[in-house]
Amino acid sequence: MIPLSVPNINGNEWKYIKDCLDTNWVSSVGAYVDKFEQSMAAYTGARFAISTVNGTAALHISLLLSGVQQGDLVIVPNITFIASVNSIRYMSANPLLIDVDPATWQMDLGLLEKFLRSSTSVENGKCVHNSDKRVIRAIMPVHVLGNMCDMDRLTALASEFHLALIEDATESLGSTYKEKHSGRFGRFGCFSYNGNKIITTGGGGMIITDNEELAKKAKHLTTQAKSDPFEYIHDEIGYNYRLVNVLAAMGLAQMESLEGFLQRKKEITDHYNTELSAVSGICFQEITKDVAPNNWLYTVTADKQEELIAHLTKNEIQVRPFWVPMNRLKMFARDLYITENDHSQKVYKNSLSLPCSTGITNSELEFVVKKIKEVYNH
Ligand SMILES: Cc1ncc(COP(=O)(O)O)c(C=O)c1O
Repeated sequence: MIPLSVPNINGNEWKYIKDCLDTNWVSSVGAYVDKFEQSMAAYTGARFAISTVNGTAALHISLLLSGVQQGDLVIVPNITFIASVNSIRYMSANPLLIDVDPATWQMDLGLLEKFLRSSTSVENGKCVHNSDKRVIRAIMPVHVLGNMCDMDRLTALASEFHLALIEDATESLGSTYKEKHSGRFGRFGCFSYNGNKIITTGGGGMIITDNEELAKKAKHLTTQAKSDPFEYIHDEIGYNYRLVNVLAAMGLAQMESLEGFLQRKKEITDHYNTELSAVSGICFQEITKDVAPNNWLYTVTADKQEELIAHLTKNEIQVRPFWVPMNRLKMFARDLYITENDHSQKVYKNSLSLPCSTGITNSELEFVVKKIKEVYNH
């Protein structure tokens, strides 16, 4: 089986994890937690980085610290992994789903702007939805597959309409817009180190921010809000959202390999793009102007998606369709979905992610391409 996207563990992972085991520093604090956080801050250019148990927890805490309240609305693209939208529901708020751009598969900013101008008003420094008077407190762009929106336009809209900006940057470690790292455009940026991500800790996440006070609060809330170093005094409801030292050790080692992973991901993308460009019926994700993507998970749209899935699976090539659009899941079917042409559904129906682990060999890539062409040549 050629897997879709699996970890690449070839650096100092064993060494650093062994160090944790040898010294007994395996749990919720330790030098590797600090080092991993520092390396993420240094790499992204953020002032602060706070590790979390996973990316979903990072999103949850960021929404909480952005003042999202029960009954609020949070703008989010209709195509995303469910964790983005679940984290909004954890706050007893609701997602306000925006259709995606058919070319870039990111939140459609034209549609967003039209909606904000026609259906909301800013009242007392808050963005209010005209028809039901609910506060639209925040906006959560998701950098789907490591691509990003036009961040100048998005940040201008967020600031004009008083929306707290929280980036779901879980898929975009290594991606930049105008050379600024993803996750650095709003109040918080959230990352994931889930097993299929560009670097992994098995499971893990990170919040980045430039705001010192918010960084301290994020650390406090993710560590049970303990306010006394000795006694068990807690000053608010906190969460056990810590990343343990053993996993942070793995993260630090993975960070050391990140540049090599990014380079290999780019080679894989270039290979597929070159080989598949002549196959009419296959379309590529358009990269937004000024974005340098991390090429995380190679995905195309194909008119013969179903035949491709069947043929590639039969040939032991692991492939995946995109996420089912959020408005089609029963939990979110009654939430507001802003769309004109339901591009989400078309992208979803045709999409196909292809094997692109950094450890994939060139002959495996050639085999995948050959099997794709077989479907089109018949
Ligand atoms: C877009 C998106 N948001 C959120 C998450 C949640 O991250 P995690 O699985 O680390 O909780 C993921 C990845 O799994 C994701 O792809």
